[in-house]
Amino acid sequence: LKIQDYRPQPFIDFTKAENVQAYEAALKKVRAELVGKHYPMVIDGERVDTAEKLTSLNPCDTSEVVGTTAKATIEDAERALQGAWKAFETWKTWDMDARARILLKASAKLKERRLEACALMSIEVGKNYAEADVEVAEAIDFLEYYARSAMKYSGFGSSETTWFEGEENGLMSLPLGVGVSISPWNFPCAIFVGMLAAPIVVGNCVIAKPAEDSGLIAGFIADIMYEAGLPAGVLQFLPGVGKDVGEYLTTHAKTRFITFTGSRAVGLHINEVAAKVQPGQKWIKKVVLELGGKDGMIVDETADLEVAITAAVQGAFGFNGQKCSAMSRLIVVDAVYDDVVNGFVERAGKLKMGTGEENANVTAVVNQMSFDKIKGYLELAPQEGKVLLGGEAPGECNGKQGYYIQATIVGDVKRDARMAQEEIFGPVISVIRAKDWQDALDIANSTEYGLTGGVCSRDRARLEQARQELEVGNLYFNRKITGAIVGVQPFGGYNMSGTDSKAGGPDYLAYFMQLKTVTERW
Ligand code: SER
Repeated sequence: LKIQDYRPQPFIDFTKAENVQAYEAALKKVRAELVGKHYPMVIDGERVDTAEKLTSLNPCDTSEVVGTTAKATIEDAERALQGAWKAFETWKTWDMDARARILLKASAKLKERRLEACALMSIEVGKNYAEADVEVAEAIDFLEYYARSAMKYSGFGSSETTWFEGEENGLMSLPLGVGVSISPWNFPCAIFVGMLAAPIVVGNCVIAKPAEDSGLIAGFIADIMYEAGLPAGVLQFLPGVGKDVGEYLTTHAKTRFITFTGSRAVGLHINEVAAKVQPGQKWIKKVVLELGGKDGMIVDETADLEVAITAAVQGAFGFNGQKCSAMSRLIVVDAVYDDVVNGFVERAGKLKMGTGEENANVTAVVNQMSFDKIKGYLELAPQEGKVLLGGEAPGECNGKQGYYIQATIVGDVKRDARMAQEEIFGPVISVIRAKDWQDALDIANSTEYGLTGGVCSRDRARLEQARQELEVGNLYFNRKITGAIVGVQPFGGYNMSGTDSKAGGPDYLAYFMQLKTVTERW
């Protein structure tokens, strides 16, 4: 397979009128062709429906049903699992290049439909144009990157072993079998595709269970994978409810691996049930987890405050803070606290609220449960700090009922307050005052999470100290702390943020393989 080196997709420039027009045209096309659509399950290559359905609502206008999917039952999950093991018998024998080629073809198809995928997410989860575009670019990147990564494992002896006289020795990298991929609604295109493409390309079969809130974009992506030529049973598309089919599959004796991105609570539960050996189970399940964050960015007195304020606004409020990587704690040393906080509040105060389709800066959060949870923190805010911006959950915008929450900044929050410790997953930011640099570093590390973190400083010694001491999987200096690019910033967290498995990194595929050392005496 001859292909050029991996290069991440460039993003679309929405300051150009023609790109905005193209996006608007895509929104029209999606409204005409995809909104209102129903996606059944796909098991063993066949579209199968269920009596009950899952409904996907537009969070920015909850009177609108975006579409529906099937709602898998336990029997469907069982059938998907059995079918996937059957498909595995053949899929595992495919040449690595041939499997990689399918990812590349899927990437080509997604490139053609890039704006449609974006527009669908604007309607289904409320992403604005740039947020949606960055995500589809990431989905394409995952396909391209994992296709190339897989080729490294081609053939006997693809991993290095030491020469030994009189023998041939080699390491074979082999797929594990059938796994379950349970993906989130906040990156319903990129993470959905990344979490299925990686195990599949190295020869596993996957049951993909998309998030209940974003079944349409998942169905759209699954179709692209099938059109690209995935054989029946290799990817089982199983929309359903986590608590029933997710639980059934993660517990099942025949599940070989689980990859999950979502909340800490669900991730830890999966880890626990997966660890329990079921009757008839022959292996220790592999579990790859990407969980929450309480990500902090430090600003010290040497920082370029303009850079820091821009980084804070982007990191905090991109996609309404609904990213595990989002900056939810801004930690500012006392000497520049007022300047930074005033600038942050002023800049964030200019963010416009509206729908994803209108390309607003702050849109609605994903669902009623999120809305209620975030509202709870808004009620707590005046007790735990000073509300400097926002603080309301209007629940409507420009006459549309939706899960709207204002961009909210709460100043002088104590480092151990609930708002400074618990993941809110919304546009609600705690600003914490630090005495000095060392205090700021201590505050940043005073969480059980460890996903992203950042420092805005011009002091070389401090940056070097932070490089060593900040307990996060992704550390950013003098820029926003979100938006990791596949291959450029391998992504994954420490501590309660997950297994630090680094999606989009050089070793990610190894999580889905087992190694066999083979020795032949001459
Ligand atoms: N990878 C995303 C980011 O870096 C979060 O999942 O923002």
